[in-house]
Parts: sequence; structure tokens; C-alpha cells
Amino acid sequence: MELQELRSFIRGLPKAELHLHIEGTLEADMIFAFAQRNQVPLPYASIEDLKNAYQFTDLQSFLDLYYAGAAVLQTEQDFYEMTWAYLEKAAADGVVHAEIMFDPQTHTGRGIPMETVFAGIAGALRQAKPGLGISGSLILSFLRHLSEENAFATLEQALPLREAYRDVWLSIGLDSSEKGNPPEKFERVFRRCKELGFRLVAHAGEEGPASYVRDALDLLGAERIDHGVRSEEDPALMQRLQQEQVPLTVCPLSNLKLCVVGDLKEHNLKRLLEQGICVTINSDEPAYFGGYILDNYVATAQALGLSKEQLVQLAANSMAARF
Ligand code: HPA
Ligand code: ZN
Repeated sequence: MELQELRSFIRGLPKAELHLHIEGTLEADMIFAFAQRNQVPLPYASIEDLKNAYQFTDLQSFLDLYYAGAAVLQTEQDFYEMTWAYLEKAAADGVVHAEIMFDPQTHTGRGIPMETVFAGIAGALRQAKPGLGISGSLILSFLRHLSEENAFATLEQALPLREAYRDVWLSIGLDSSEKGNPPEKFERVFRRCKELGFRLVAHAGEEGPASYVRDALDLLGAERIDHGVRSEEDPALMQRLQQEQVPLTVCPLSNLKLCVVGDLKEHNLKRLLEQGICVTINSDEPAYFGGYILDNYVATAQALGLSKEQLVQLAANSMAARF
């Protein structure tokens, strides 16, 4: 298929985006605009200068820059505008449903009230159905480089808002530095979240070993695995993922930019799909990794030679894996 034909074919498939960090949709020009509006100093002379810094060697090298960029988010309006800009791009890519992760600790740790974060992000998401035809929900994600105690405190801070945001806040996730922060570190707080009736997801098997994927399922009760590409290193785990149809929210351009794979042609997404795993394609941090969901589908389709049937399957998987 020609590139334009491929793009419009994929755009036309109803898709759900299930692995998207809203702070990762903060485009460099938005970072500059918000910094100016909020009088936040930036260590970059220009937008170009900032973009030139987007050269990552691993997850941590990215996270350091990503958390610094998020510091320009100060007001409800900032969170609203960031989220709305994402939703507009998602709609243009043919996304009909978005489950959006946000990291409250990145903001409350800087003195931004939890209410401000919720009001801005949820405010935009609630407008998405009438305004753009996108349904969705929010995944409050704990930062795994911080303590479980900090995660518990964050949960306590957010729970008073649960009633007001019951229509959108459905889920809990786990992200940030995987190596050295295994799932077991968050076993108690995830148990509490399950008791409270939240849906559960966790990043695992991006840089961490296949055993982290197993532990995310067994110890955390995760219903979907974010990334999970290293599951392939454990055949018994692969069989389980296939039998239980545990969705993997794979992010090909992220994997490329963070050097999880050296080349998209080496990505295991097609093999996972052909082994009957419920694989989905997502954008993770589109502002930093060079593309939104449609770019991820197109680049992967081209690199791996995915068939039309496989593209249809990927989109159908994403719709089936929605909460
Ligand atoms: N992995 C772990 N933590 C993250 C990521 C990711 O890809 N993106 C944002 N936080
Ligand atoms: Zn992620």
C-alpha cells in the first residue's frame, strides 16, 4: 500500500488508545508557551534547543527531561489545554476511546493541588465526547521510583475527589523507572486500590525482565500490561498471556527512542501478534517520541510489513481491551 493509502486505511479503523501519559503530550512549543505564561524559567534558549535535547539512551535519560518539562504545568488551564490538544490530535487519528494516564506525584510534589490536576484533565476529557466523539477515562499512575508510602499518601489525597470524578477516574497504574523498582514494592497499595474497586494496570517488561510481567499480574493484579515486550523471554509466560488474553499496550516508537529496540524492524510486535497475544499499538509519550498513535501504526506497519488483517486485528484488540 502507498503511504497515503496506508495512513487513511489505519485512520479509518476505530481505535482505542490505552497507553498514553498526558504529560508526554506536552509539545515543545507548549512547554515554552506555558513557561512564559507562568513565569517558569527554562534551561533552553529556544524550542529548537529543547527539541535537540530529545536524544535518549534509555528510560531514565528520558524521564529526567520529562519531569523537568512537566514543571511548566501550573494551572487548571494548563492541564486543560494540554489534554484538549491531545484529544484533538487523537480524534484526527481515528481514536474513538482514550484511557489517559496521569502522574499526580509529578505535580503535587511541586505544590500543585491535586484538585487542579484533576479539574484540568477531567474537564477536557468530559468535553471530548460531545466535542470530538471520543469517550475515555483516567488512570491515576503511581511513580515507582518513589516509595509505596508516598503512593499511599497520594491515594489518600485523591480519594476525596473520587465521587466528583466517578465518571472518569476508573483506574490505577504504575510507571517511571522500572529497573530496581519491582512490582512487589507496590503490592499493598495495589491491593488497597483493588478493594476500592479500581481497574488496575502496570508498566512491566519494558526494561525490566519478564518476571516483572508475571509479578505485575500475580502480585499487583494488573489487568493489562503496559509495554510487556520482554515477556517473550519466558515461554511459559507467553503461553499464559495468550490463554488469558492479557492485553499488552505496546508503544513501538517509544521502544525505539528509548533504545528498547535498536531498529523498528527488530520489534517483536508482529511475533507477539502471530502468537495470539492481545497486542495493541499506542503512543506512550507522543511529544517526545516523534509521533501520535497513527504514526506508531504506520511506522510499525512499514517496518514489519503488517497485513491489512493484522492492522484490523490490532485496532480490534485495542477496542476489546478497553475498561
Ligand atoms: N515507562 C515508564 N515510565 C514512564 C513511561 C514509560 O514508557 N512513560 C512515562 N513514564
Ligand atoms: Zn508508558
